[in-house]
Amino acid sequence: MTTQVEVLRAFRRVVRERQVTAVYVSHDLAVVAQMADHILVLRDGRMREVGTTERLLAAPQNEYTQSLLAAAWPAPRSAGTAGVGADVLLRVKGLSAGYGPRGRDGKPAVTILEDIDLELRRGQAIGVIGESGSGKTTLARVVAGLLPPSAGTMEFDGRALPPALKARSHDDLRRIQIVFQSADTALNPSRTIEGHPGAAASVLPRARARRCAAASTNCSTW
Ligand SMILES: Nc1ncnc2c1ncn2[C@@H]1O[C@H](COP(=O)(O)OP(=O)(O)O)[C@@H](O)[C@H]1O
Ligand SMILES: [Mg+2]
Repeated sequence: MTTQVEVLRAFRRVVRERQVTAVYVSHDLAVVAQMADHILVLRDGRMREVGTTERLLAAPQNEYTQSLLAAAWPAPRSAGTAGVGADVLLRVKGLSAGYGPRGRDGKPAVTILEDIDLELRRGQAIGVIGESGSGKTTLARVVAGLLPPSAGTMEFDGRALPPALKARSHDDLRRIQIVFQSADTALNPSRTIEGHPGAAASVLPRARARRCAAASTNCSTW
């Protein structure tokens, strides 16, 4: 994200310093809004609307432009009042975690998460945001039991949540699950290509899938 900001800043500087006339093509309205003086909205090869950035963002005339704006700047989901007064469902306290072998002090070779606290009441949702590599997936993996923390505690529905997946009850496993990004293409490393229900069958012919699994090669190039 900060890389994107830097690149956009560099573009703007070049355009200004060299007096360049630029056509900036993007699907990302938020980016275009920072870059352009005028915006032209296309759909199915037809021009839907054109105007100054200021006017187009403040008072879009075309229905399609209006829907683009609504998607780019959605209304907040709630005023933050969801779940207020409800029981705490998940409580994470002083959570630290990382990767690699643990030292004598119990800390992993690389610490990724340090001293994370969060509390989620029934019916609430929390968004975890941060740069790529900031530890979002690691936090999700710890909560889901895929990566035991090196310090801290987790409580779920009023009881201690065991750090290790194996120690969790079937009910815990059913109730706390990860939906991975690009779930349709995410593969489980503990299974062969052929062992993924539906995935191999739909993407690769069966015989090819079998060869691919046996060869343990990079099947994405097949
Ligand atoms: N299995 C792993 N072994 C070692 N380091 C890892 C592993 N998975 C992630 N990391 C490192 O942990 C950091 C946080 O990664 P991640 O939790 O995936 O961040 P995010 O989801 O916010 O992009 C990154 O520096 C990444 O390289
Ligand atoms: Mg991630």
